[in-house]
Amino acid sequence: MKSIQLVKQYLEISGLEAELTAASRLLTKVNGQKYLVETNDWKTKPVNLSVIQSFYHSLLNSSDLAGGLYITNKGFTETVKYFINANRKKEIVLGLLDNVKAKVNWLYPLDYAVNNDSLPQVKIGLFICKGGVGKTTTAVHLATILADLGYSIALVDEDPEAHLKRISRSASLNSKINCFSAHEVEHDESLIKNHNYVIYDYPPSLQTSNIYSLSELDYCLIPVNLSPMCLGLDAEILQKTFNYISQINPLASLLVLINNEIEPYHPVSNSLRRELQKTIKNTSKAHLIPFSIKNSQHLHYWGKGLSFSGLGKNSIAYQNFLALGDYLLNTLKIHPRKSFEMTLKN
Ligand SMILES: Nc1ncnc2c1ncn2[C@@H]1O[C@H](COP(=O)(O)OP(=O)(O)O)[C@@H](O)[C@H]1O
Ligand SMILES: [Mg+2]
Repeated sequence: MKSIQLVKQYLEISGLEAELTAASRLLTKVNGQKYLVETNDWKTKPVNLSVIQSFYHSLLNSSDLAGGLYITNKGFTETVKYFINANRKKEIVLGLLDNVKAKVNWLYPLDYAVNNDSLPQVKIGLFICKGGVGKTTTAVHLATILADLGYSIALVDEDPEAHLKRISRSASLNSKINCFSAHEVEHDESLIKNHNYVIYDYPPSLQTSNIYSLSELDYCLIPVNLSPMCLGLDAEILQKTFNYISQINPLASLLVLINNEIEPYHPVSNSLRRELQKTIKNTSKAHLIPFSIKNSQHLHYWGKGLSFSGLGKNSIAYQNFLALGDYLLNTLKIHPRKSFEMTLKN
């Protein structure tokens, strides 16, 4: 039987109305308020952030709905929890369908703990032969998201200008983040041990002192801006960056991240994106991350205070970096983990 039918039965047995409205949707009433119920029958994958984001947006667009119940038999990726905690204009309750017992286990509250002691360490670098595109911004905000998700992070400032080190002194970072200068790590390599991730922030032109850590990266994140002045139409800078990294570290995955995007559908933005894709196709290790970090006031002014100061988890910036975290963890399967196990409150 399809999940939606099982859910309908279950709701009715529990004494709730359940009116089918579409192939995988129904409406129910809880304490006199309308809730949209959505199910999916995916066989293999936990429900991810983008699915829950669009579910949330469909709730926001219907003023008569108090919230929604999202039900799956495959679980949810861990970033879903953070999204729901941060977005409370409409209530979302997650449900795990047990097809055999025809029962829904409501996953609420969403408590789970990360057990990450035995994970292999992953090294990620931020590099492109270009300044001012968001290397340092991405390093700090990605570190913050991963720390919020329960991982421990060593942030290493490889830039002689030491922007990162200076910011880490004035900003209060998540306590799971430790920030070091390359110099400190050179003297005592054990400093970065016992962290799930090491994130390196490089200068736009490499010095010999940067070569060693670069040669050890698993992933190189390459932020680009879709502005003709930043990325020449011939994408020369990007090709140079690819060549540079591949020479030193042919095994690293090269992940291009569009940052500071202003208007995704602007014609110039589109044509630059196509140019970008051409360059990326020529390099086998290179991939374009399928979404962008948007231009935001917050990321423009972030250095003073917390990395996500003021705007907190509701900000577009937080949601964008959450999507990046979700992509790294679940699409690239860096530290793949089973969907979170829920404590059931019945
Ligand atoms: N998505 C964004 N929206 C708005 N401003 C941004 C964004 N990303 C970066 N910035 C700003 O651009 C400037 C350069 O960023 P930075 O991370 O220092 O670049 P890099 O490390 O590559 O030199 C900073 O002032 C930063 O606040
Ligand atoms: Mg920088």
